[in-house]
Amino acid sequence: MKYHIVTVSGDGIGPDIIDEAKKVLHALGQRFGHSFSFTEKDAGGIAIDRHGCPLPKDTVDAARAADAVLLGAVGGPKWDHLGGDRRPEKALLGLRGELNLFANLRPAVLFPQLKEACPLRPEIIGSTLDILIVRELTSGIYFGARGRNAEDKSAYDTLYYNEEEIERVLRVGFNAARLRGSRVTVVDKANILETSRLWREVTARVAKFYTDVEYSHMYVDNCAMQLIKNPHQFDVIVTTNMFGDILSDEASMLTGSIGMLASASLGGSSFGMYEPIHGSAPDIAGKDLANPIATVLSAAMMLKYSFALDEEARAVEDAVNKALDSGYRTADIYSEGCKRVGTREMGRLIADAI
Ligand code: IPM
Ligand code: MG
Repeated sequence: MKYHIVTVSGDGIGPDIIDEAKKVLHALGQRFGHSFSFTEKDAGGIAIDRHGCPLPKDTVDAARAADAVLLGAVGGPKWDHLGGDRRPEKALLGLRGELNLFANLRPAVLFPQLKEACPLRPEIIGSTLDILIVRELTSGIYFGARGRNAEDKSAYDTLYYNEEEIERVLRVGFNAARLRGSRVTVVDKANILETSRLWREVTARVAKFYTDVEYSHMYVDNCAMQLIKNPHQFDVIVTTNMFGDILSDEASMLTGSIGMLASASLGGSSFGMYEPIHGSAPDIAGKDLANPIATVLSAAMMLKYSFALDEEARAVEDAVNKALDSGYRTADIYSEGCKRVGTREMGRLIADAI
């Protein structure tokens, strides 16, 4: 089969890691007889420099016309002085919103080979961890009205959810739970927030369609603690845009490095956008230091969710495992006795394993 992918490498280490994911997909295509074609489009800081805005219409149009989007990272100190809607990050939110990618799947998986890189004590973390965070991605406080009021020198951001927005992301979470441990934890702040109380009402309704899935609610502050105290209690966490943003960074540390975590942003169809959850790391950009694994694993999620190529997705995951089994580590996951490699070498090792 032929698949057309729009790549949005973006800023910082974005181009470094996207190159490696392409290398891996190329090897995969050769092994399984698929053809992956790529069109690179600008978004983020690079788009500000070249086109004067973080998200050119041409990028959105090309993304819409593609089978899937693979994104690196956006942002950097060069554009930090820009205000509000002119910032590179606006490109990410814009793409997610424009493409209606309301459900963001962020698996926090600890590869057993990396358990030394996990900061928790061995008796707490054990030898593996597998949590799926489902983050609502196109509403909530990141999308609500915001502004400034010069009169009283104030600023505001609005946290808004309607029932439909809550229901559709909950369904993604419950469906995902069915294919895993059949447990959903809905994380909120219902002791304070009215939107959270609405989430609880909608959850009770949705859960009636999933009597085979166990569910519970948890306050976000408690969840932040429980992730460290006993991470194995979680199977699928479903939560709002902002809470999911924060908790997924926290969960990533349980896996040893934020450089390992992939994500899939999905809407109602097979189309999706795939990106590592980490940022653009401008300090190590272009230095062959970044860990490409999160992006490679994001490509694996693309194979699975957008192209229904489960076997191929597993082949990528197996190849990552093989590189790690052989003791190869980028700097962020390095531990004593391992072989330190750069971005390109790690990409080559994974591609070769395929
Ligand atoms: C993420 C990032 C983004 C977000 C930023 C860069 C806008 O932190 O994907 O988690 O907040 O969603
Ligand atoms: Mg984040």
